Amino acid sequence: MKNLTTHELRKLFLEFFSERGHAVIPSASLIPENDPSVLFTTAGMHPLMPYLMGAEHPAGKRLCDVQKCVRTGDIDEVGDASHLTFFEMLGNWSLGDYFKSESIAWSWEFLTDEKWLGIDKDRLYFSCFEGDENAPKDEFSHDRWVDMGVDPSHIFYLNAKHNWWIPGTSGPCGPDTEIFFDTGKAPCCETCSPACSCGKYLEIWNNVFMQYYKAPDGKMSMLEKKNVDTGMGLERTVATLQGAESVYDTDAFTNILARIAELSGKNYKSDADTVKAFRIIADHIRTATFMLGDPRGVTPSNVDQGYILRRLIRRALRYAMQLEMGENALSKVAEVVVADYGEVYPELKEHAEHIKKELDTEELKFQRTLANGMREFERIKGKFVGGVIDGASAFRLFDTVGFPIEFTEELARENGLTVDVEGFRERFAEHQQKSKAGSEQKFKGGLAEANEETTKLHSATHLLQAALRKVLGDEVAQKGSNITTERLRFDFSFPRKVTPEELAEVEALVNDAIKAAVPVTCEEMSEAEARALGAIGLFQYGEKVKVYTMGAYSCEMCGGPHVSNTAELGTFKIKKEEASSAGVRRIKAVLIPNYR
Ligand code: ALA
Repeated sequence: MKNLTTHELRKLFLEFFSERGHAVIPSASLIPENDPSVLFTTAGMHPLMPYLMGAEHPAGKRLCDVQKCVRTGDIDEVGDASHLTFFEMLGNWSLGDYFKSESIAWSWEFLTDEKWLGIDKDRLYFSCFEGDENAPKDEFSHDRWVDMGVDPSHIFYLNAKHNWWIPGTSGPCGPDTEIFFDTGKAPCCETCSPACSCGKYLEIWNNVFMQYYKAPDGKMSMLEKKNVDTGMGLERTVATLQGAESVYDTDAFTNILARIAELSGKNYKSDADTVKAFRIIADHIRTATFMLGDPRGVTPSNVDQGYILRRLIRRALRYAMQLEMGENALSKVAEVVVADYGEVYPELKEHAEHIKKELDTEELKFQRTLANGMREFERIKGKFVGGVIDGASAFRLFDTVGFPIEFTEELARENGLTVDVEGFRERFAEHQQKSKAGSEQKFKGGLAEANEETTKLHSATHLLQAALRKVLGDEVAQKGSNITTERLRFDFSFPRKVTPEELAEVEALVNDAIKAAVPVTCEEMSEAEARALGAIGLFQYGEKVKVYTMGAYSCEMCGGPHVSNTAELGTFKIKKEEASSAGVRRIKAVLIPNYR
């Protein structure tokens, strides 16, 4: 098995698939463009959704990339051997081109051939879909692995919970076959298999065979084309190749952990608590740096992406305080992330100042929060009968002033009180349940569905952006877009409230464009050509981009889809204008059909 660095594996993967006719496309933003179903790009397939749904990709039918991803659903697992909130996903795609046979053969070759990773085949295990009412048992994949030389005892048929991939609750989907590396740990039980999460089998690659579409109402249908969507976890695979005990014990984290050690004067491996604190700080600050440094950057706030970012920063700060890392510790760790990743992701270098400033500001704010929490604690501490702070009060401190439970416990101890931690956890779990349902899977509908309403609202979003720039100036840039079947929501950079007069003007401009009934045309060109044409938009997929033009009203790079004529949009109405976060405004608007 080759001992590769993170950087070498990235390169080798792209080289392997380029040699096999795949166009290398750059990583898209961490903030999904027009994709309403998730707050962050959680897999390489998210930015490719329109193409998996059938649109033609400008770079062709075979693609590969390294995509920046964020998943915060497992935030409490961070610190163990394999969970990270930010990771890079290596992926190869077939958009209606090759299918299971080639996909499996290439995965096998890349993993086991001496020329590539050279992993010992006896350490690889596989799972295939066992079949259910939606799709039959995937015997083809099973047999294809056997053709490759896999012993059938290494292949497990598992149910849809394990081997069916869908982005959230609706969208393109299908059975997958997953590849696991046997870490060599003892089996956890007699039936230990890739289905259990004991840590013996580490999932390193997933090949999804997307040939179905699940509508939001649950109805299944066949996609126009059969696609392949694969995802290999860069950090996990590097850990495997380096024989590391965890993803943190690889070259990806060496410098970051060293900086934490330097600032805290502590040793990473000194005890279990310190290991956990180091890993959480390293993970959360790496993620925060990528969020802040993204071209469509996020800033800390109390809603949506900004809220997740704030949570990560505050959690990291808490551990940084535990390790006594001193002032501005987080931005000092972030410096290392920027230095390590800046070559591959130049946006981090470009936004280095901004990253530092936001982390330092958030640190100050958190200190204020802690001071408020202390005051609140002092106010209520005399009220507790029997010396126990009940769960509801502890949760209130957490929920309203952002006071972490560990702080409450510490203060309680100092004051001769105890905390009903059980009661706190119950409330916390309820809250998590709600926010899990509400955060990553926050929005239903959207362009994943690409139905008539969302397509219209998407076209209206282009007209809205153009009108805003005309009325408010070119400093207006898209910061986020979210579309449901009922409304559009558009976030844009602008330093102050938009006045009612300005909003009326924007609305009128959009309605003028609709009344003018101009055709919507689409052209493919290089990004440079698009920019030369004055096309706006941050969205670039590799060499060619699609540019949608709506007469003289709008010219924007975008993946589509759109209506064919602005007349289809009806009447545009702005419902609300409000602040989204510092320097970012949010508009919600609807389209009212014109009845004759
Ligand atoms: N979309 C698949 C995954 O994220 C490859 O696992």
